[in-house]
Amino acid sequence: MPEIKAEAQRRRTFAIISHPDAGKTTLTEKFLLYGGALNKEAGAVKAREGRRSATSDWMELEQQRGISITSTALQFEYRDKVLNLLDTPGHRDFSEDTYRVLAAADAAIMVLDAAKGIEPQTLKLFEVCREREIPFLTFINKWDRPGKPALELLDEIEETLVVEPTPVTWPVGIPGDFRGVINRNDGIYTRFERTARGSTIAPEEEVAPEQAAVDDAEWWPQATEESELLDEIGRVVDVKTFLAGESTPVFFGSALTNFGVRFLLDGVVDLVPSPAPRSMADGSRRALDDPFCGLVFKVQAGMDKAHRDRIAFVRVCSGRFERGITAYAEKTEKQFSTKYAQTMFGQDRGTADEAYPGDVLGLVNANDLRVGDAVYVDQPASFPDLPAFAPEHFMRARVKDTSKFKQFRKGLVQLDEEGTIQVLRDEDLGDQAPVLAAVGPMQFEVATHRLENEFGAAIELTSTPYTIARRTDAESAPKLKSMQGVTVMERDDGRMLALFESRYWMDRVVSDHPELTLERMVAEGGLA
Ligand code: G4P
Repeated sequence: MPEIKAEAQRRRTFAIISHPDAGKTTLTEKFLLYGGALNKEAGAVKAREGRRSATSDWMELEQQRGISITSTALQFEYRDKVLNLLDTPGHRDFSEDTYRVLAAADAAIMVLDAAKGIEPQTLKLFEVCREREIPFLTFINKWDRPGKPALELLDEIEETLVVEPTPVTWPVGIPGDFRGVINRNDGIYTRFERTARGSTIAPEEEVAPEQAAVDDAEWWPQATEESELLDEIGRVVDVKTFLAGESTPVFFGSALTNFGVRFLLDGVVDLVPSPAPRSMADGSRRALDDPFCGLVFKVQAGMDKAHRDRIAFVRVCSGRFERGITAYAEKTEKQFSTKYAQTMFGQDRGTADEAYPGDVLGLVNANDLRVGDAVYVDQPASFPDLPAFAPEHFMRARVKDTSKFKQFRKGLVQLDEEGTIQVLRDEDLGDQAPVLAAVGPMQFEVATHRLENEFGAAIELTSTPYTIARRTDAESAPKLKSMQGVTVMERDDGRMLALFESRYWMDRVVSDHPELTLERMVAEGGLA
């Protein structure tokens, strides 16, 4: 098989979504442990410390709030495959960022806390997954401590998400007294043994059913009965419905003690689809072995305090990337050097010498790149637009010290380009006091923090009466502006938004004035 296709087939590119505290970070560390990217004893603990300090360098706020705001990509090998793990923000206020990350992933893992089941943010993030139509696996975590019964959790998934759960593994023992799992593919029972805080790979033992019936007499009959019941009602993995997002293969485990982590990784390798030819804006599909092209799914500045470099994260969609090649930015058609391309191997940022479809690159100082753009060589590429999320929070921003106006403007341009926040201007106050629009209010905190710390422009935010927006155009703008309770503002790129004081009023205007352009955006009133 030609090299590029063969390499693409080795790739599994996926993201983890979860409600904060369900165990995403712990699971990520354990993946690295199993992938050999963290070796030695206590590697996981060390990594955790490392992660905290590394993150704090470039996102103090993240640490202060104890949440994951920014996302990165990690690459590690498992079996003979190359796994690219994309981290997603854990907070629903950043669901638009999550969507962008999912645009670069081929599947997701949804992590649930066994004691809590589906939590509000799991649901929100799941809705983003559904919007994006990507398949997902489910990992029911923290089985080492008291939680809900397994069958109850399956019901919850089915009822809340309207997705059929199909367990790949079935737990032996209840939450809090976890012995091992039955692999429902081959019926083999694997018993786990604890290691201190799971700092090493969990020792496993395959146990024959007769032996299990004796050793784990307390739990074995229930586990086998339940698993058989699931067979009878057809709850078995079905690749077709999984790929369509209609069913989700379920794994039970405990990331902290490593129980079940290997089965989940096997699931990633066996079930997550390898990169496929991408749909392009013109409706064609770009073959995997066409010349190099990639999708920019995130732009981030300030990761390195010393340099304040600006990194565009790119998912390779076709071809072979080689460091040093001259690539083109779609929108400007300008060429730029890729001498400083980076990848994240395990926990370290390294230089990327080559990359294949499914891999993620960090392009340093690629200032012409915006989220959603294509980069390419030889054959121009353009991806379908990423849908815009409807902002529902609007605040007017003013710089506190007017002598910092220049920095204020520069910072806003940067944050807008990165997609941290949308910057809107109206005729009257324009640049002096633009309106910042967000999907979730925490975006304001990030913007305020970054304007002050990165650009030296402290700001003051004042509320506005607006609560919802739709896209509009220059033709409809004058009429909308003449109405009460509505205004029209413009973004840097010329796109226009009509802002309404209430949803009720917006619905009225939409129904009374079908001649006006008022385009709906993703997640309007739904996700955020
Ligand atoms: P997140 O990234 O999804 O927010 O979650 P994270 O991995 O940080 O885990 C949140 C807490 O849950 C951590 O405890 C972590 O140790 C714990 N945890 C994760 N997986 C398991 C599991 O399988 N079993 C149990 N019992 N706990 C688990 P913490 O007290 O907040 O932090 P730490 O002191 O352990 O570092």
